[in-house]
Amino acid sequence: MQVYADMQRMHGRKLALVPTMGSLHKGHLSLVKRAQAEADHVTVSIFVNPTQFGPSEDFEAYPRDFQRDCALLEELGGVSAVFAPSEATLYPSGSDQQRVWITCPEMSSQLCGKYRSGHFRGVLTVVMKLFAACNPHIGVFGLKDIQQFVLLKKMIEDLSLNIKIIGGETVREANGLAYSSRNEYLTAEERHQAGIISEAIYSAVQMIEAGEKSLETVTGKIHETIGSVPQAKLQYAEIVTAGTLQPVEQFMPGMQVIIALAVYFRQIRLIDNAFALVPAQ
Ligand code: PAF
Repeated sequence: MQVYADMQRMHGRKLALVPTMGSLHKGHLSLVKRAQAEADHVTVSIFVNPTQFGPSEDFEAYPRDFQRDCALLEELGGVSAVFAPSEATLYPSGSDQQRVWITCPEMSSQLCGKYRSGHFRGVLTVVMKLFAACNPHIGVFGLKDIQQFVLLKKMIEDLSLNIKIIGGETVREANGLAYSSRNEYLTAEERHQAGIISEAIYSAVQMIEAGEKSLETVTGKIHETIGSVPQAKLQYAEIVTAGTLQPVEQFMPGMQVIIALAVYFRQIRLIDNAFALVPAQ
């Protein structure tokens, strides 16, 4: 992959990488399209990364269908390479023997990081490995995983990587549910009910953008909306600042905030978020 990427660079091509864990859906395909708009050569990586799953998480059960993923990319067209390394290629010493990690403790202890210890260490480390293998000019990541996106941005800045990071908008099903590989675990009924997540988020966006000043009122409304579906169990609902992901203590005029939620349906954990702009006055 490194030699191949070098050859593409020698031909003057602009390379984009779309890292994925496979089980591709419309959200991934929109990231690929975004990459195609920015680069001449798009690589999609497919690797279910063991180090970003906790011991009680779904690494073994995570949906894998390489042939289907390749067929979807072929149908879409315009993908120059699929990079699907083995675990031994990305973790030559073994994923449980990795000695060097990339961490950002300051921004990994809130939101999802609070509940998924070690998750972002695994994500940052594997993305660094994928960057080293694919040597892209551009990396495209979904904004649904907003904390991941912000952390990767910090990694690129702090390690002076010559890579432009692009965030692709979240793609939603008809009922507002954000596309996610984990939606495959939901029953048809749960998939329908899970539309409540984006409903809660967008009612909060509306309240904030209409000038609601009280954080408690906004978060109270989110709890109430999610609570209206008994099968949905809210893990967290937080309003944080867009740049640093620190909890907002007070809405300040002109402030851009992110409303982020994690909700369980049985043991299936779904996340979603949206940006809101506090009116300037
Ligand atoms: O967002 C994902 O699918 C994964 O976290 C990523 C970026 C491919 C790293 O394994």
